[in-house]
Amino acid sequence: LPPLLSSVVKGPELLPIIQADTPHEAVAIAKALAEGGIGSVEVVLRTRQALAAISAIRTELPELLVGAGTVLSAEDANASKDAGAQFLVSPASTPKLLEAMIDTGLPLTPGVATPSEIALACEYGLREVKFFPAHLSGGIEMLKALSGVFQQVRFCPTGGIGQHNLADFLALPNVFVVGGSWLTPATLVKNKQWQQISELSAAATAIARQ
Ligand code: 3PG
Repeated sequence: LPPLLSSVVKGPELLPIIQADTPHEAVAIAKALAEGGIGSVEVVLRTRQALAAISAIRTELPELLVGAGTVLSAEDANASKDAGAQFLVSPASTPKLLEAMIDTGLPLTPGVATPSEIALACEYGLREVKFFPAHLSGGIEMLKALSGVFQQVRFCPTGGIGQHNLADFLALPNVFVVGGSWLTPATLVKNKQWQQISELSAAATAIARQ
């Protein structure tokens, strides 16, 4: 099995999402996040140039850990690895997807929202999964309920997380990193408000370090 994502994550236990239209924009977002103390980022495969964005961040900001998110197929997984992604995140878990992601050798966090999906990941020997969409799937109370049953599994909750509930998610023993888009709001990106992204990141970093 590939290494655990938790063993390679850099910086605070935060995994902000980068959704960028161009590699240049992705690098600007990543730089702003890094200035706020972020060490690891997830570039989501939801734009045409997402793979090029991953490569650009690898080249221009080598101190950051960069992964691919929204990995939905074997093709996505392989293309992400070829582009230089250092880990893979998926919103879903199917046998085919899990096999393809494991085959890349990269740390992975497949998405789960139910006990059966967690059990599927466990059947493949995986111990770290993404809990998505975290807020709509029961949030903190659900993670507490799951902790009793899946005692060795640790989660990366994403979806509906922000400054208001970050500390509560991070306080859970079965949470190893928290993801989301709240540090990179589309309006700030559109208006190139990099300083604000750095400030949001610094605020989140401060919470994560507590
Ligand atoms: C994801 O891809 O993990 C989600 O888009 C994150 O959800 P959020 O936008 O509510 O943070």
